[in-house]
This record gives sequence, structure tokens and C-alpha cells, in this order.
Amino acid sequence: MRSITSLLILSASSNRTFKEPLINSQYSKFHSHFIHSLIWCFAGAAIYSILISFGYLFGVNFLKVIIFFVVVIEPKKMSSSKRKPSEEEECADLAMSIPGLGSQSNQPKPRVLGTSFFGYVPDAFSMKTPNLPSERSSQPSPPSVADKNKTPKNDQVNRKENDRKPEEKQETNKTVAISAPQDNQTRDDKPEDDAMAARAQSTTPVRKVPIHLQSAQNRLLIKNGKVVNADGIQDADVYVEEGVIKQVGNNLIVPGGSRVIDARGKFVIPGGIDTHTHLQLPFMGTTTADDFYTGTRAALAGGTTTIIDFVIPSKGQSLIEAYKQWRERADDKVACDYALHVAVTWWSPEVQQEMEELCRDHGINSFKMFMAYKDLWQLDDTELFEAFERCKQLGAVAQVHAENGDIIKENCKKLLAAGVTGPEGHELSRPEEVEAEAVNRACVLANQVNCPLYVVHVMSKSAGQVIAEKRREGIVVYGEPIAASLATDGRNYWHTCWRHAAAHVMGPPLRPDASTPDYLMDLLANDDLSLTGTDHCTFSTAQKEMGKGDFTKIPNGVNGVEERMSLVWEKGVVSGKMDPSRFVAVTSTNAAKIFNMYPKKGCIDVGSDADIVIWDPKLEHTISVATHHSAVDFNIFEGMTCRGGPEYVIANGRVTVDEGQVKAVQGYGSFIPTPAFAPFVYDAVAEREKVHQLIKVEREGRVIAVRNTAVAAAQPSATNGEASESSLASANGVEEAIPTADHSFVAHQHFTRPPTSSGGRNMQDTTFSLSAEYPSMADVEEEAKGKKNSIHVKNPPGGKSSGPFW
Ligand code: URP
Ligand code: ZN
Ligand code: ZN
Repeated sequence: MRSITSLLILSASSNRTFKEPLINSQYSKFHSHFIHSLIWCFAGAAIYSILISFGYLFGVNFLKVIIFFVVVIEPKKMSSSKRKPSEEEECADLAMSIPGLGSQSNQPKPRVLGTSFFGYVPDAFSMKTPNLPSERSSQPSPPSVADKNKTPKNDQVNRKENDRKPEEKQETNKTVAISAPQDNQTRDDKPEDDAMAARAQSTTPVRKVPIHLQSAQNRLLIKNGKVVNADGIQDADVYVEEGVIKQVGNNLIVPGGSRVIDARGKFVIPGGIDTHTHLQLPFMGTTTADDFYTGTRAALAGGTTTIIDFVIPSKGQSLIEAYKQWRERADDKVACDYALHVAVTWWSPEVQQEMEELCRDHGINSFKMFMAYKDLWQLDDTELFEAFERCKQLGAVAQVHAENGDIIKENCKKLLAAGVTGPEGHELSRPEEVEAEAVNRACVLANQVNCPLYVVHVMSKSAGQVIAEKRREGIVVYGEPIAASLATDGRNYWHTCWRHAAAHVMGPPLRPDASTPDYLMDLLANDDLSLTGTDHCTFSTAQKEMGKGDFTKIPNGVNGVEERMSLVWEKGVVSGKMDPSRFVAVTSTNAAKIFNMYPKKGCIDVGSDADIVIWDPKLEHTISVATHHSAVDFNIFEGMTCRGGPEYVIANGRVTVDEGQVKAVQGYGSFIPTPAFAPFVYDAVAEREKVHQLIKVEREGRVIAVRNTAVAAAQPSATNGEASESSLASANGVEEAIPTADHSFVAHQHFTRPPTSSGGRNMQDTTFSLSAEYPSMADVEEEAKGKKNSIHVKNPPGGKSSGPFW
């Protein structure tokens, strides 16, 4: 055999040597080819006869071996080793799956590109796929100016290898290899290469898959997994068709041709919902590195199938106009579903009117008010109060960025004057108490109008404590820690590498107290904090450098949309603080409930959207800028290892992460309207409403302590007012209402002794009684109907209140 090989090598090389001098003549070319072919014919014939003779000697049919080699093995090698299909083509491949054939190895294969014996024809199928608007997306909108401007020039440099088109792969063989650093210092003293910086421009998307082709791959059977919902875990199979979960259970009967995914040893969980992102946000003189495509692609890569982004109108801008801008930016780009919050950055009767319109006609049920960013977006206390009141009327959730903007402004001036210009100045200008004060103030203001409150990006222990205390008092408030505050800390601002320190700048800042992430995770596990977001708002190093000599000009924002799920699993579940059900609650279910997307989103159940993650607890992954999917050139979680991650991510029935391979499709996602009056939120508000009515203290004659306003309102018509008056008098005539400094407390407390000389509560006083002091709700209702004449309420139904009246 060795001699045959050398003969072939010799003939090939000899061919090359005599070919060069004749290269310019057609005749010589022909002559050269002719001789070349002749040599190959002779060589082939010789090899063939030798093989046949060996065959006879050893009883092997070499003819069959040769045919097998040529027809089966070689084309496979050609297609797999010479060229890997791009992300786009892989998606196209799946879209070409023929219903009924499936893709299991024991079934016939669907039509696949690039495996033809006659070689690969570039884009043979993909260019013929019509680019139809997704049936699921409501209104196809034209690309915005910003989108058009974003068409990348050096795209091929910075996209990951699998994302590239084949032509691009030939153009650049530059692989970006950055190993996980051992420590911060070594990592950041060596800024990543240009390829990383150019990543910020990476936006070339995979085209939309037409709906008729999407559906073909949408029949999925997920077998043998542990299905995790917020309320429990069950061993069950899940069957998905047309983007919806159709069956959950055992021994399911499903149509043939469904793709089967074996989830043995894995958890089957609802796709994550990231409650807080800023994609394509114009902010602090620049626009975030991630747009709605790269941001949602990153989300999917990490197991998040829905994001909620913030519409942020500029001061004086119509809220509706801003909302439409955001829809235009997002609709054709999102690779996963999305909803929107709207920020209220200024206050006027028009704004109030538009808030109503947004709730009624545009699927908005949450408004965010800034207590920071003075002179830009900040509202003062009166405006906050009115905004909360408006949210309450509309059935919306009031969200706050809670930091005292007035204090921050003054501190910044002082720090800059003192020569502190670096990123550490950012934290120094707004320490923990500046956040905690604002959280407390927001709770007080919201409670005055019984408005449900949602504190975005909880960053400090003290802010978390305030929320925990307020929740214990019965206030309807939800706290949202983010991936960054749960996994890293503010010591990074003191890092000697400016780039590293600046990359962590966000507001409110990460806290230098290194015990903060653990503490916040404890609160999250206990339901003192309710759910997780990321505040994913990325700026490249070049963008951060806008604040090189002045920390107040560093664009605020960090990454997290891709890392959140794995980090919460690692720090929450692997650490033993929470079980998989709580993990589901804080990564999807609670968000779906608060923003009224449940049970469409946030659970694995029949009828829910097929947003499903097959979570492999054994998957180990080290976070790195070199492998993340965001367009940004820095990752604040660089080098952290997470045990547990998504093996498959299914968004609306489509496998968007397949055995770890990301197959995002631009424009595949849809806008998800969020209706007002989410029952999860407003049922709690209504309960409190019942016990916090306006109470008038009657002073004529001897009086009772408390009456429910609902009763009082119903009473006059039932009793013509007179009876009502007399019914206020206590039967035994010993009870009197006694005013103190806290009117809301007076309204709901019953005292038997006068106050102390300083006006405080007499500690001899007691509300304890063995008699039945609390009327039942039935009593209250009966009185309201006029059946009962009077109710004496010492403590209102629902317990004592520290709250005011509504
Ligand atoms: O630093 C941050 N958080 N940037 C985004 C805007 C905001 O405050 O949420
Ligand atoms: Zn904020
Ligand atoms: Zn934010």
C-alpha cells in the first residue's frame, strides 16, 4: 500500500512541476490535463487490479468497500469537515423538516443542506425562502433609522464562529480566544483585542422563519424530565404543538413525526422572564451596545424567553409616541417575546391621559418613575404621589428607580471638586442610605394611596431590608434584585484598571459590602424580595470612556440578560438556599403574575405558551466575554463558573437553543400585551382597600371607635341617616375615640385609656378583650344591606393597620 501511495503522491507532484512553465498556453493546459488524467487512469486501474487480487486472496469484496467509501463516507466528511452550516442555515434546515418524518436517527432524515455527493451549493435553498412577516407578530413595522444605520461593516470579525456565513468564515480565520482569567488584575490589564471591541457592532441577524415552516418543527415531545412549576415538581412528559403546550403527563398519545427530546435527569422549567432590560436605549449621549436582536439572542442563550423592556420617553415627549418608537425598534428584531413598561419622565395632565390610553389600548400595565437622574427624568415627591395615585386608578403597577437624586447631585459636585473623578466616585456619590431612603419614601408615598409598588434593581442590603419590613407591615411592594446585585459587588469600582471599574458603573451602584449578594439571595429565597431581572443595559468600553475624566459621564449600565438564570441557579439553588420551584418562581412565575402574563407565561401547563427550558443541573459553564452572545465587549461576571444551565431553550414551540447551540431568529418574537388589574397584584390591593376606608369620627354623644366606610356609605339609604347616627353610640356608652398625632392610627385603634401627657399611647391601655370584638365579613355585609343596625369594630377585619385611609 505504501508504494501505491508514494506513486500517487509522485504523480500529483510531478504534475504540479511540469504544469507551471506551460501555464499560459491553452494547448499546454489541455496537454497537461490529458497527461494528468492518463496517469490517474493508470494508477486507478493498477490499484483496482491489486485490490481485486487481494480480494480473491483474502475473500473480501473490495469493490463493495470502494463503493461504500466513495458514496457514503466521503460526502459526509466533505460536508462536516470542510464547512459547518451557519446559524442561519441550521435554522433553515430545521424549517425544512418535513412533517411526519421527524429528525430522530432511526427515522428518515429531512432534506439537509450541504451533504450532497455533488458538493455544496451555497445558499441553494435559503435565498428562496420568502421573508414573510411572522403571523405571530402583530404589525410588521419598517426598520427604524437607527436600525438601518446599524448594518455592520466588520461583522465577520466579531460574531461567534457559528454565527458566521461561510463566505465570511473564509474571509477571516481570526479566532477570538480569551481564556478565563485567574484574577481581575490580570484580566483587565490586558484589554481584549479589537475583535471584542468590534463585537459591539455585531447585529447581522438570522432571517425570520415563515410561519408555515415554523410549525413543522413545532411538534415536540419532551420525555422523562422533571417538570418544575412554582408550586411543585412532577415527573411528566410535555407535548407541544403549534407553539402551545398541549399535554402534560405520562404515557401521552402524540402524533407521529414529533421530535422527541429526552430530558432524563434534567428539569423542564418555564422559560425565564427578565423583567428589566434596556435594549437599543439612547442614554447619556450614546445608545446601548445591544439592540433588540443581539439582546434577545443573548436572553435565549441563557434560558430567558421573554423580556420586559422600558419605554423611556424624553422629557416632554408624548408617552404614546415613545411607546410606538419602542415597538418599531423591537417588533422586527426580537428573537423572543417581549413586553414593555413605560417610564413617566415628566408630569402633566397629558401624561396622565396618555397613561390611561396606554393601559386601555396598548397593553401596558406598569409605569416606572425615577427618583434619581435629577434634571433628566426625576419626579419630585408631589409628582410621585400623583403618579402613584394614577397607577392605582388605572390598575397598573408603579415602579420606582429608588435613589435620592437631590443628594446624588450635591455629592457629585463635591467629589469632582475634591478631585475624585474615577468610577469609585460613582458609588461614593450614592451610598446605600441614599437608596434605602428612597425605597422607604416610595413605600410611604405608595401606601398613602394603596398603590402597588415595585422597586426595580434592588442593590443594597439596607434597601432589601426596607422592602422586607414593609411587606411584613402588609404593604403591597415587590423587590427586584438583579443578576449583578446577586452575583458581584461594588469593590470593583476600586479596581486599579479604569476599564474594569467603569464597566461596573450602573445606578444604583453595586455595593462595596461583599456580603450584599448573599444577603439579597437570602431575601429572595424567603420571598422578602419577589423576583429577578437584570437591568441589562450594555455599553462598550469605548462608550464607557465618555466618562474617562468624570465619573458622572460614564454611561450607566451592565450586562446580565444571558447570565441571570445560571447565576440564580448557582447562587440560589446550588448553594442550598432555594429549591427548583422557588427558582422558577423568582425567574419567571412571579414576573408573569405581577405583570399579568400568567398562566400564558411562567408555567408549564396545558394551554400555556411553549416557552420551555430543559435545564441540565450537571452542565458547567464558565462565563466569558469570549463566548457570550451579547454585543458588548466586557462581561462583569467574567470567569464565574455556574453549575447548571440550559441544554434546550424552546420559545413558542421552536427550539432556539438546541443542545447548547443558539439558533435565534430575528423577528420571531412578539409583543405580549399586559392587561391592567393583574389579579395577583390587585386582589391584594382590594383586600387592603376593605380595611382602609375613610373613617369619620362622630363626636356627638358617645361614640364608637371604628366603622367600615362601606357600611357607612350603605347605612344612610338603609336607615335614612338617623339610625346611622344613633347606631354609632356604644351600647354600654363607655367607648370614645381619642385623637393622637397619627390620624391613620387613630382611625383604626380603639383605646380605653387617655393618652400620656406627651400624647403617646397609654401603656395601660389594651385592645385585648375576651369578647367577640371582630365582626365577621358576613356581619359587615349584612349591615351594608341594612339588615344589621350597627357594628362596633375595635380592630378592623384584616387586623390592625399601620396604613392610612383610602
Ligand atoms: O444604570 C442603569 N441602571 N442604567 C439603566 C437605566 C436605569 O436606571 O435603569
Ligand atoms: Zn433604573
Ligand atoms: Zn434599568
